Amino acid sequence: MTAPQLIAGNWKMNGLLGAKAEVTALVQALNGRKHLPDILICPPATLLRALIDAVEQGSIRLGGQTCHAKPNGAHTGDISAEMLKDAGASCVIVGHSERRTDHKETSAEVAAQATAAWRAGLTAIICIGETEAERVSGKTETVLAAQIDGSVPTDATPQTTAVAYEPIWAIGTGKTASLADIEYAHAFIRQRMAAKLGATGSAIRLLYGGSVKPSNAKEILHAKGVDGVLVGGASLKATDFLAIIEGAKPG
Ligand code: PGA
Repeated sequence: MTAPQLIAGNWKMNGLLGAKAEVTALVQALNGRKHLPDILICPPATLLRALIDAVEQGSIRLGGQTCHAKPNGAHTGDISAEMLKDAGASCVIVGHSERRTDHKETSAEVAAQATAAWRAGLTAIICIGETEAERVSGKTETVLAAQIDGSVPTDATPQTTAVAYEPIWAIGTGKTASLADIEYAHAFIRQRMAAKLGATGSAIRLLYGGSVKPSNAKEILHAKGVDGVLVGGASLKATDFLAIIEGAKPG
């Protein structure tokens, strides 16, 4: 049986308490619907507790946006996977390009974060993707291969892990990768994952991220090798995120 598609929203550093109204509106709009994909919202960690009430009756799960590799300790400003779990998360994004760039996170650190997520009972969405410069100089495959090799632990399973392909030049830019680019990259990633993890690697969900919006979600979600999407800006408004969810293949 193939897993349902995963539609994940990454709110990044956006959202105050008032944003709960968006989640409530989404829960109401989805109420009673059948054959839904898996739906995940990753708000700032400060909102997890508040949003738990809003999603309790519905089909939406909550996640974090990063975690430290250690369960606790002297790491000012960091958050552990155990803390996210305790606050109501069931998943965490690791290795987002904004973390890799802004916080200089390495693939080895990202792999340790994924392992920490599993230790705490969270699933991990491991992000990979090339920069514009790497793409134009023909290095996409080399970069993706190195990120898979370094960031995806060998004991990843389809139950604990998804991988998100997010070409950095498409994030927050409105420039979506073409379907051909997406299918090509996903086929490459799939092959590399299978080479690394065997049959397990073939079953791990592969998400696309980078300027996914209501107008392009359906065709991306129906592209070959796409098992879901990771959505930034367009996940902030219930109406937009709902339209993206409606573009998924029936679950
Ligand atoms: P975007 O962000 O949808 O705003 O391009 C995607 C992401 O960074 O996950």
